[in-house]
Amino acid sequence: MVKHEWVSPDASRFASAWSDLAGIGRDHRRGGYSRHGFDDADLHSRAWFVEQAQRRGLDVETDRNGNLWAWWGEPGVGAVVTGSHLDSVPGGGAFDGPLGVVSALLAVDELKVRGVAPARPFAVACFVEEEGGRFGLPCLGSRLLTGAVDPDAVRRLHDPDGVSLADAAARAGVDPAGMGPDPARLAGIGTFLELHVEQGRLLRAADPTAAVAVGSEIVAHGRWRFTVTGQGNHAGTTAAADRRDPMIPAAAIVPAARRAMQRFQGAVATVGRIVPVPGGTNVIAFSVQVWLDARYGDTASTAALVDAITADVRLEAEAEGCTVVVQRESLSDRVVFDPALGVSLSERLGVPIVPTGAGHDAGVLAAHVPSAMLFVRNPTGISHAPEEHAETADCLVGVTALADCLADLLL
Ligand code: GLV
Ligand code: MN
Ligand code: MN
Ligand code: MN
Repeated sequence: MVKHEWVSPDASRFASAWSDLAGIGRDHRRGGYSRHGFDDADLHSRAWFVEQAQRRGLDVETDRNGNLWAWWGEPGVGAVVTGSHLDSVPGGGAFDGPLGVVSALLAVDELKVRGVAPARPFAVACFVEEEGGRFGLPCLGSRLLTGAVDPDAVRRLHDPDGVSLADAAARAGVDPAGMGPDPARLAGIGTFLELHVEQGRLLRAADPTAAVAVGSEIVAHGRWRFTVTGQGNHAGTTAAADRRDPMIPAAAIVPAARRAMQRFQGAVATVGRIVPVPGGTNVIAFSVQVWLDARYGDTASTAALVDAITADVRLEAEAEGCTVVVQRESLSDRVVFDPALGVSLSERLGVPIVPTGAGHDAGVLAAHVPSAMLFVRNPTGISHAPEEHAETADCLVGVTALADCLADLLL
């Protein structure tokens, strides 16, 4: 493999974009950032994107689902599209999402410096609510675009404060009645390329000298909501024998998930959110909602993993006199990115190819258009947490790599 020569793009532009975004959506209570679909921080970061794109002479449009598209020249068929998302998980890091958007804008600058005039339509895209941090459905904007989700069901989603997605979208200037599949737009995309911070350490394991890698595949992943119901009661006056405390089986989901990870080699299962209702220190809850994130192989393997956890939880619920209802909120099958595209990018850049356990809009689009991902090295692998990090020098290599790939694709 020929070693690639990295020419550093304008570091000051990267620093300035990064410092702009650093001020948007800071979460002082949890640490890191909280930017969720159509909330104030999200609208602020979207406005920032529009301004940056316009400054570069790109024409920005909002599609029927609220995704932003910044076109360099006329929109059209066979378009090369790059981008990512600006929203975050609650208390997330700075890089997951924004790095792909900032790198796309800087790649435009870099292509201009190189005198590349796109011979095909070209756009930078920003997708709505990739993390599902507000309405619970990850990759919301790309799923709506591709028809992977029923728009009626989406309009009915509510955030934890009871605001409907329809109202949130309308407030952002997106007509909720118009949300849904966008086949003509989708058919116009020739290639989608998403740059993203790596969210693990597979890149370093594959090649300790590489600052970037090409993505090969995404494992199947989904979210399930367990509602455990018992009898609300007084914490001080209810004897142990009289309790039907839903927190007992709800809490049992956590070790059940860990046991399942040990039983199913390579599986991961996480409880990141538990909400007791009504939620008082001196109150035995009447119900508890528990969200399970499970990822393993393909959808059948992931379903088997969740079935094993559910069976354990049902036994616990029965013993406590409680009931359990399990609802699937989302499930995405294993995605293999376009192999020919992946190999050509990896050879072009002289970098390894690695898989990931994280979901991405590129994974949703991959079912419809040739898609690929570039990952930028993350020294600790920590992600979805304030400590998420990538060195600036590596981010600049990422911009160069993206510009190199785009220059080829735009020929
Ligand atoms: C999104 O980043 C996910 O993988 O959950
Ligand atoms: Mn993420
Ligand atoms: Mn992301
Ligand atoms: Mn993601």
